[in-house]
This record gives sequence, C-alpha cells and structure tokens, in this order.
Amino acid sequence: MELKWTLLLLGLFLESRESHTCGIGFKSENKSCVDTDECVMDPGVCGNHAQCFNTPGSYYCTCDEGFQSTPPNFTQTTGQCLDINECLVGTYECSADLECVNTIGSFNCSCPKGYKTSRLDAGCEDVDECLSSVCGVHSSCFNTAGGFLCTCSPGFVEHENSTCADIDECKDNLDICGTNAQCRNKVGSYNCECHQGYSNYGNNQSKCIEMSCDQFKAESDVESTPETLKHLRALLRSSCESLRTANGSRKTGEQLLENVCTSSNELLSEGKIADGETLNQFLDVVENSMRLIGPQLKDPVTRMETHNTFAEVAVMRGQTPPSGRVTLRTDSALFSTSWETVVGKSYPGFVFAALVSYKDLNSSRDLLHKMSRERPDDEERSVTYQLNSKVVTAVVSNAETKQLSEPVMLVFTHEEERAESKGVAYSCVYWDEGAWSGRGCERAWSNSTHTACSCSHLSSFAVLMALYPVQDTFELVLMTHLGLALSLVCLFLCILTFKFCRSIQGTRTSIHLHLSISLFIADLVFLCGISSTHNQVACGIVAGLLHFFFLSAFCWMLLEGVQLYRMVVMVFHTTLKHLYMYLVGYGVPLVIVIISAISFPAGYGTKRHCWLSLDQNFIWSFLAPVCIIVVLNSFVFTITVWKLAEKFSSLNPDLSKLRNIKGFTVTAVAQFCILGGTWVFGSFLFYEKVTQVALYLFTILNSLQGVIIFIMHCLLSKPVRDEYYKLISRICSLKEKKYSEFSTNHSSNSQQPLRSNPTTGESKI
Ligand SMILES: *[C@@H]1O[C@H](CO)[C@@H](O)[C@H](O)[C@H]1NC(C)=O
Ligand SMILES: *[C@@H]1O[C@H](CO)[C@@H](O)[C@H](O)[C@H]1NC(C)=O
Ligand SMILES: *[C@@H]1O[C@H](CO)[C@@H](O)[C@H](O)[C@H]1NC(C)=O
Ligand SMILES: *[C@@H]1O[C@H](CO)[C@@H](O)[C@H](O)[C@H]1NC(C)=O
Ligand SMILES: *[C@@H]1O[C@H](CO)[C@@H](O)[C@H](O)[C@H]1NC(C)=O
Ligand SMILES: *[C@@H]1O[C@H](CO)[C@@H](O)[C@H](O)[C@H]1NC(C)=O
Ligand SMILES: *[C@@H]1O[C@H](CO)[C@@H](O)[C@H](O)[C@H]1NC(C)=O
Ligand SMILES: *[C@@H]1O[C@H](CO)[C@@H](O)[C@H](O)[C@H]1NC(C)=O
Repeated sequence: MELKWTLLLLGLFLESRESHTCGIGFKSENKSCVDTDECVMDPGVCGNHAQCFNTPGSYYCTCDEGFQSTPPNFTQTTGQCLDINECLVGTYECSADLECVNTIGSFNCSCPKGYKTSRLDAGCEDVDECLSSVCGVHSSCFNTAGGFLCTCSPGFVEHENSTCADIDECKDNLDICGTNAQCRNKVGSYNCECHQGYSNYGNNQSKCIEMSCDQFKAESDVESTPETLKHLRALLRSSCESLRTANGSRKTGEQLLENVCTSSNELLSEGKIADGETLNQFLDVVENSMRLIGPQLKDPVTRMETHNTFAEVAVMRGQTPPSGRVTLRTDSALFSTSWETVVGKSYPGFVFAALVSYKDLNSSRDLLHKMSRERPDDEERSVTYQLNSKVVTAVVSNAETKQLSEPVMLVFTHEEERAESKGVAYSCVYWDEGAWSGRGCERAWSNSTHTACSCSHLSSFAVLMALYPVQDTFELVLMTHLGLALSLVCLFLCILTFKFCRSIQGTRTSIHLHLSISLFIADLVFLCGISSTHNQVACGIVAGLLHFFFLSAFCWMLLEGVQLYRMVVMVFHTTLKHLYMYLVGYGVPLVIVIISAISFPAGYGTKRHCWLSLDQNFIWSFLAPVCIIVVLNSFVFTITVWKLAEKFSSLNPDLSKLRNIKGFTVTAVAQFCILGGTWVFGSFLFYEKVTQVALYLFTILNSLQGVIIFIMHCLLSKPVRDEYYKLISRICSLKEKKYSEFSTNHSSNSQQPLRSNPTTGESKI
C-alpha cells in the first residue's frame, strides 16, 4: 500500500517536473516538450512589411521587398522593417523628364506636378490649369509651365487671402475725374459724371472739359446757306447739346461721321458751295463736327469714304498721353504730326486727329482760285492761280491750333502732273475766311506729282499753282512783225490791183478788195496795237477793231463762196448787189461786236494782249462765228464743186466758162483753207498746252495771210500779171525812150492779153 502511494506521488512529481523543464520556445505536451510557433501565436510579432519565419525554439523576421532592417534577420526585440527610399538610394533611375516619387515599399516614376502624360514613354506635357476655374472671381488665370498664375482684373486689387477686391478709384485718386465731374465708383471701374456744361464725349473715365455748342448755333445760318448744311448743323447741334447736358439719346460717333460725310457729299456733288461765305460755313462745320465726333469714335482708326469726301480719324485713350508720330491718309493727301502736338497742353484722357479731303470742291473754280492780296506784284505780272490738289481739312483735339509748337506735315497729290518750271510755282495755302493765304504754311518740297507742306497752324489746306505768263520769245515777236509788215505790203498791192485793174473788175474782185481791206486794217491794228495793254480803253478798242475786221474777213470769204455758187448755178445776173454784200461783209461783224461789247465789255482786252479775254468764254464770240462760217462755207464749196462736176458732164458744156469757174473755186478753197484753217487751228491754242512748234506755225500762217492772197489772186492770175507787165513796160518806156523799138515790141506783146477775154486767162492751180 505504501508503495502504491509512493509511486503515485512520484508519478505526480515526475509529471510536474517534466512540465517545468521545457526550454523557451517549447511547450510541454503529453509530458514532452514541443516547439511553439511564435509566428502563429502572435501574427504581429514582426511588425508591418515583414515575413515571420518560425525556427525550433525561436523565430526570425525578414523584411518584404522595398523594406529593410538591421540586422536583416531580426526579432521583435532586435529590429523593425523600414521603407527603402529608392529615389534617394538611387537603385532606380527614372527616364528623362520623369520624376521619381518614393512610395511605401516601392517608388513611382511620374511627370512632375503640373504636367501630365498619356503614356509614360511619351514625355510629359503641361496641364492647363486655367481650363478649370482655379482663380476665383475678378481675376484672370494665366497658365505657366507646370503651374498657373492668378492676377486680379483691372480695377481690382489682391487681398492677403488671395482674393481680388474692387478698387475704389474715386478714393484712391481724388483728381481722377478732374474738378468738373462727380466720380462714381463701380465694381471694377468708375465713371466720371460731368457737371452741366462739361463733357468727356462719352469717354466715362476721362476728365470732363468745358463744352459749348455755339459753333453749331442756328444763327450762323444765313439766307444763302444750303438746306443740307442747315440740317447738318441742326443734327450736330442736338447731338452736341445731348452730350453737354448728358441726357437724351444721341447718335454714336460713327453715325454722326456718316451723316457729315453724306451731307458733305451732297453739298459738293450738287455744287451748292458757290460763294466764299458758303465755303466758309461748310469748312467750319466740317472742322467743328470733327471736334465733336473724333472723341466719340470707338475704333483707334476710323475711315469713311463717300463719292466726294474721304475722312480718316485716329483716336487714342488712356491714362497717359500717347507719344510718337501719327499719320493719316486719304486718297489725295497725307497728314503727319506727333501725338504731342495733337495733345497740346492738357490731356483729358483722349486725343484724336482727323483728316478730311473733298474730292469735288470745284463747283466754283474761280472762288477756289481766289488768292488773298499778299503778293501785289503778282497782279502786275498777271499771274494766274489754279488749285492743283484736293482741298483737305486737318483737325486735332488740341484746341490751340493757331500757333503749333511743332509744324505739321501735309503731302498733297497733284491733280495735274506738272513739275515746277519757270512758268509754274507751287505754294501751300490755307482757306482764310474768303481767300487762300500762304501765311504760316511753307512748301517743304515739290516734284511733278506731289507737294509737301509744313504748316504751323491747322485749317483747310490745298496746293495752289501759280502760273506765270510765258514771255513771248524775241524770235516770235520778230517773226510776227516781219510777217505782218510783208503782209501789209502785199495787201496794199492787192488793194491797188483790185481797185484799179480794169480787166478783172466784177463781183469777185470787189469781194477780194474788201477781204484785203479787212485784213489790211486788221493786220495794221494788230501790228500797232496788240501790245498796248497799258491803256485799258485803247486796248479794248484795239481788241474790238481786231474782232470786227477779222470777222469781216471771214464774212467776205463766205460771200466769195456764195458768189462762186451763183456763178455755177445761175447763167445770168451773177453779180451780187453791193448793198447786200456790205450788209453781210460789214454788217454782220458789226452786230456781233456790238452785242459782245454790250454783254461783256470787260472781255475786250486782257492783261497780256489786246485781244478777247478767255473769261466767261468770251473768246467764243469770235471763235463761234468763225466756226459757223467755216462750216457754212465748206457746205457751199461742196455744193459748188458738185454742181460744177454736173455741168461738166452735161450735154454741151460751156467749157471755157466752166474751166474759169473751176480755177476760181480752187483758188477760193485754197484761200479759205489757209485763212479758216489758221484760226480754227489757232483756237485750240487758247485751251491746250501750247507747244512751241504750234505757236510758231500759227504765228507764221497768220502773219503771211496777206502774202498768200497776193500770190493767189494777183501773181497767179494771168490778166493781173499782164496788167503788171503793161504797167512796168509803161514805166520803162517813159524812162528809156531811147529803146523805143524795144518798148513798142514790149507794149504790142502786152497788148494781146488785154484784147483777150479777161475770164479766159485765170490761173490754173
Ligand atoms: C497526448 O495525449 C492525448 C490524450 O491524452 C492524445 O490524444 C495525444 O495523441 C497525445 N499526444 C501525443 C503526441 O502522444
Ligand atoms: C537568417 O536565418 C535563416 C534561418 O536560420 C538563415 O538561413 C539565414 O541565412 C539567416 N540570414 C542572415 C542574413 O543571417
Ligand atoms: C504611380 O502612381 C500613380 C498614382 O499615384 C499610379 O496611377 C501609377 O500607376 C503609378 N505608377 C507606377 C509605375 O507605379
Ligand atoms: C478675404 O478678405 C476679405 C477682406 O479682408 C474678406 O472680405 C473676404 O471675405 C475674405 N475672403 C475669404 C475667402 O476669406
Ligand atoms: C458710360 O456710362 C454710362 C452710364 O453710366 C453707360 O451707359 C455707358 O455704357 C458707359 N460707357 C462706357 C464706354 O463704359
Ligand atoms: C435735359 O436736361 C435739361 C436740364 O436738366 C432739361 O432742361 C432738358 O429738357 C433735358 N432734355 C431731355 C431730352 O430730357
Ligand atoms: C470738278 O473737276 C473734276 C476734274 O477736274 C471734274 O471731273 C468734275 O466734274 C468737276 N466737278 C464739278 C462739280 O464741276
Ligand atoms: C514725288 O515724291 C514722292 C514722295 O517722295 C514719290 O513717291 C513720287 O514718286 C515722286 N514723283 C516723282 C515723279 O518723282
């Protein structure tokens, strides 16, 4: 029994002893020690990112990839796993522009901030952050490479908390609207509300300047003011008033400009601007309208063109005055100045410059040619003036344009291409209340197509062409005098011949006689009186006499044509009654001269010659009758020749008579061609540019007319020649009686033609 208990106790002891003897990491199980799995027993024994490995009686931890520990095998008490920063360690490199980003346990190659990529190997591109509204209200977003910027809109300022807040401009700058306006702050901006009588022309942020609409007042209208101009003025007035009082609706600057252009166009094309007063008013209205319209135009440069006007306006706005040059162009002129000149002394916040050209301001050329009396010597030299450019008006916002600090430049295109020469001089002029004046305007340069002017004030300008009379050259004067003297001698011989040569007496010879007398007196008056311009009355009389006798010569030529016709057609009574002949030959010219003298006495005598004036086309009182006679005579001659031809082919023509008439006709036609042609040709000289050759030709033909008549009617006419022989031989026989035999021989010779029928010996040309 005792043993039994002992054994039991021993067993218990052994059992208990056994369980207490398993080492660390072991546990007793069924009285033996077995390993404990720490990894299972305590899953967190290694911490994060580590693998747990059980070993008999112990365990160890190793880190996951991307982590590391010291030492590599560790237990809970000896270490832990830490992330490896691959980007720092440099175990991996990211390609090109990619950026390395460490992650827990790994890393990532990605585009830098602000960039994005669709494929990693395709490189990075900037992200436009502004596409999504990142900046908030009242600010503008600017994308930058890899980022963006926010700036506050104008009129806003940035607060510390990077939001934009409105600036109160009125408080910040008390003078911002000047003294003539009430400043009103608005979100992001401000308005200057002008006091009554002041205006900033709709430029809300500009200072207000004093404004008067008196320049458009209706009292300026006078009776002669064209309706269109009145309407335009009324429109501008109401527009001006509504600007001044800042109430009422008004037209925009563009609409007003259009109105001004169309009204001007109407006035110009209808030729309503006929006198100096109307022109003054017109140019005034245009200039003032530009002052009103310019500041209201929205665009920096506005052009407007109608048929007769061309306007260009440049406007600048801003807090600081502009600088540099401004150049405006129209179809026919260029206007160049500096913005400083345009601004002048005070700058309200806007400036403008305008150039208007008038294409057709020639409704009254005389008016435009009027030159103010600045050059009295011109009158004596009988200089004539002509505009050779369009008229332009130049306006700038600077109101002090009477004396500019720096001259402006205007370049005009000539209407007529003509270079300066001895007879032509260009000058720059402006319209000075009724006449053109050159004061304060200098010509900078000039070539055949352009003239540049430099002017120290602004107004309406043009280029005036002074035409100096070309002095007749000495050769021409000499030739004229010699030719006329020769003509006078010849005509005198003709007159004697026609008067006293008995063998040729008849109607035709009477006509020739009076033709010669007319031409003789005309040439004589011409030779003595054409240059007597110093005495106006004498000069007028000379011109009148020349008018009368030259016309008379033409009338006698017409009579000759008629007489020839009668000789062909009528068999008997071929003589014209002398009374009728005188009526036509002297009466008609007399009537013409009387009518001309009564209707325009000043037309007789010009400053250069004692001849008909070109004013009011007075010269046509000579040229028109001449042309009519030329046409009539051509007609008469044509019929005569036709009838003559008819007669020649008739059954039994009176051949000798017809041959005579044929001879007369040929002579008459030749004479008519030379006399008539000279003057018809000469009439072109009054208008066209006279070439030297044409002038000489006219002078020679004109002064040799007498010689030609003498040759044709005397020297080439057999009866006349015979009479001359007779006369000469008589003189000879008187002087040289010794040679009586020769004389009788001679006289018997010359006797023959006297017996012959006078009409058979006509010359054959
Ligand atoms: C320990 O004993 C239990 C019952 O007591 C048994 O089921 C188990 O198999 C034994 N273990 C070993 C290793 O012998
Ligand atoms: C960590 O322990 C294991 C198992 O005992 C062994 O195989 C391994 O070499 C050890 N590692 C280090 C770095 O000692
Ligand atoms: C890098 O990280 C981004 C997001 O963080 C992920 O979309 C991309 O797949 C990662 N790239 C790599 C190579 O791990
Ligand atoms: C930023 O500051 C202004 C003034 O200090 C304040 O009125 C506004 O509410 C602030 N905005 C924000 C988003 O905090
Ligand atoms: C100027 O102010 C008036 C009224 O304050 C407004 O109607 C007009 O549009 C403003 N003009 C401009 C150009 O801002
Ligand atoms: C504009 O205001 C003035 C004075 O305030 C007033 O006399 C005039 O009738 C007003 N005009 C219009 C068109 O309202
Ligand atoms: C003005 O002159 C031009 C050319 O000189 C001419 O074509 C035009 O018809 C003239 N206009 C008037 C109204 O006389
Ligand atoms: C005249 O001068 C202008 C400007 O210099 C030039 O354009 C033009 O060709 C010149 N004309 C002639 C004929 O030389």
